[in-house]
Amino acid sequence: MSSVIRKKTKPANVPAKLLQSAKRAMKNAYAPYSKFRVGAAILLSNGKTFSGCNVENASYGMTNCAERTAIFSAVAELGPKIEIRAVSVVNDQGVPCSPCGACRQVIYEFGPDAMIFFQGAKGAKQAHITELLPEGFRLQ
Ligand code: THU
Repeated sequence: MSSVIRKKTKPANVPAKLLQSAKRAMKNAYAPYSKFRVGAAILLSNGKTFSGCNVENASYGMTNCAERTAIFSAVAELGPKIEIRAVSVVNDQGVPCSPCGACRQVIYEFGPDAMIFFQGAKGAKQAHITELLPEGFRLQ
């Protein structure tokens, strides 16, 4: 077996504190429409962790994903200079769930070098944000 294959099949090693924090936030999800509860946690370069859950709305498009809830909460608390190092995403149905396109762009804004831990089609997975979002948009 080549080292490349071994690397890809190795289970993703989610930082334990981040995973725990994402699971705790998931319990607060407001998901009466989809019934799909999601929790996310972000680890910042200063070592702090923030978490979020999905918050849905009767006007479906107003829904905020767990990842963006966590990021916006960190900015609200610490200001605009946050640097995201890692993101963990969990859901209550044990199904594959990677960050949506909108969340990838928001993660990239504050974490162009972030690692993302989520459940992929074949189980736990980790990927660099630029693998999930090649050529993300930046101003400047
Ligand atoms: N959702 C998230 O919160 N994060 C994801 O990564 C994928 C989807 C939410 C949005 C909506 O409340 C529900 O999951 C179903 O799409």
